[in-house]
Formats: sequence, structure tokens, C-alpha cells
Amino acid sequence: MTIAVTGATGQLGRLVIADLKAKVPASDIVALVRDPAKAADLGVQARAADYGAPAALEAALKGVETLLLISSSEVGQRAVQHQNVIDAAKAAGVGRIVYTSLLHADTSPLSLAAEHVQTEAALKASGIPFTILRNGWYTENYTGSVPAAVAHGALAGSAGEGRIASATRQDFAEAAVAVLTTEGHDGKTYELAGDDAWTLAELAAEVSAQTGRDIPYHNLPEAEYAAVLTGAGLPEGLAQAIAGWDVGASKGALYDTSGDLKRLIGRPTTPLKDAVAAALKG
Ligand SMILES: NC(=O)c1ccc[n+]([C@@H]2O[C@H](COP(=O)([O-])OP(=O)(O)OC[C@H]3O[C@@H](n4cnc5c(N)ncnc54)[C@H](OP(=O)(O)O)[C@@H]3O)[C@@H](O)[C@H]2O)c1
Repeated sequence: MTIAVTGATGQLGRLVIADLKAKVPASDIVALVRDPAKAADLGVQARAADYGAPAALEAALKGVETLLLISSSEVGQRAVQHQNVIDAAKAAGVGRIVYTSLLHADTSPLSLAAEHVQTEAALKASGIPFTILRNGWYTENYTGSVPAAVAHGALAGSAGEGRIASATRQDFAEAAVAVLTTEGHDGKTYELAGDDAWTLAELAAEVSAQTGRDIPYHNLPEAEYAAVLTGAGLPEGLAQAIAGWDVGASKGALYDTSGDLKRLIGRPTTPLKDAVAAALKG
């Protein structure tokens, strides 16, 4: 049974390939990548598969039974790109597609939701058996800014008292591998989030506890937080998007208590304190 993974040279894709290799023979795994030269270290067959090149996608999907479609990072182009993959999978006779969507995509206020909703609809219309993994936020989205918060003596954001049920990429990767390698997931939508939800003030308190320094959380109006991010060197559009997602988090967009993730991976999700410790180690 051949399992193919798109975005296999990305951060999530690399973890999925590594975990898959522990579960199925490497000869059953195909890495679908934009640049095969970047896949040389994956230890599995790599095939060129750019989301924007439909003919090559169909060729790359020949003989694939199960496909993990990791959502593209090219925000704004994703609905078309994912449709290309789904169409190519149909033409190539792929038996099952597992797709990484967004937590509560159908009701989420986040600007990212629309493309995921379109892709979920395309999957349903394709007639190919599918499973939707609605991934919540990666804990690394926040712990990535821990070193900067320590350097500046404060953590900034616009998420207010919003609780964030994040999990690590490793947690989400293991969930994807569980779904790829076991039966009974067809037609299902999983809301994947961490066991514990935390506020940005609680993240700052955890950083303070682990560093022995006082790192307060400064909640800022959306435009002010976007300006902080632009000042730190982020492009304006991205800075505004991130600030907007924080406002979404303040309204509960990243909160979930379904427990789907811990059930799929068969263990508790990674605690925030462990992710903070990893970020502080560098
Ligand atoms: N849940 C969250 O918190 C969160 C956060 C960020 C992103 N995401 C979503 O989850 C996905 C996986 O996350 P990640 O951390 O692994 O992101 P990542 O490291 O940025 O990886 C994105 C992957 O998409 C591939 N890609 C981009 N454009 C492509 C194209 N035109 N054709 C084929 N492949 C293309 C990239 O290929 P290359 O390796 O060649 O660059 C890369 O492998 C992201 O793409 C994004 O949709 C989720």
C-alpha cells in the first residue's frame, strides 16, 4: 500500500515522513515535493509535485493508494492549488485523501478559514473517500517568539484572555500518521487541539517561571501589535494577518475540548511547559 505525503520537505511533512517510516516499510512511502533536491535526506522515494503543475501532479500520484494533502503555505493560492491536487488524485485513481484543514474551519473567524472550507467542499465533491484533520495552532507559532520576548523583557499580542488549545507539530504529525495507517476514518472530520488551553498571559508566566525573570504579557490593540511585528521586520501584510489571528484567538477561535487529538495519538498532547523549555534551550 503506497502512502504519499505532500509538503514532505516542510516542517510538518518531515515529521510525518519520519513517523511513517516507523510504522510502514520505507518502500511504501512517497514524498511529494516541490524540489526533489531538498528531499534527499528523507530516506524515501521523492517525486516532483508542485501544487501549481497539474500534469506533473497526476504523474506523481500514479500508484498511490492513500494521500496526505498537507495544506500549502502559499496563502491566497491554496484553494486552486488544493483543487489541482484533488483533481490529479481523482485522475490517478488515488483511493483515499487525508487533508490538514483548520480548527473549526466552518465557523472560524480566522482569515485563513475560507480556503480550507473551499478545499473541504472540493474533497466532498470529488467522490474520493476523505478524512479531514482540522489542525489547531502549532504551539511553535508562539514558542518561536519566546527568545524575542526574553530579549525584550515582555511578550506582546492581541489575544486578550482568549484560550489557545495548541499542540506541537509532532502531536499533529502523529495524528496524521495514525489516520494514514489505520482504518475507520473515512468521511470523518477531526477537530485537533491540545489537551490544555492557555492564555498569552499564562505563556508569559511560564516563560517567567522557567527563566527566573519577570516577562509580563502586554495585550495590545490589533493595529499596535501589527506595528510591533512590522517593527520587528515582518512584512506588513503578514504582520496584519498575525495580529488579526490573535484577535480571532481572543474570541475563542483556537479553543477546543473535543479530545480528538489525544485519542488519535494515544497519549496526552505535549504540555506547554515542555514546548517552552525546548524553545528556551534553542
Ligand atoms: N496549524 C498551524 O499553526 C499552522 C501554522 C503554519 C502553517 N500551517 C499550515 O500547515 C502547513 C504545514 O505546516 P508547516 O509548518 O510544515 O509549513 P512549512 O514548513 O512552511 O511547509 C509548507 C510546505 O508546503 C510546500 N509548498 C508550498 N508551496 C508549494 C507548492 N506550490 N507546491 C508544492 N508544495 C508547496 C513547501 O514546499 P518546500 O519544502 O519546497 O518549501 C513546504 O513543504 C502549511 O503549509 C500551512 O498550510 C499551519
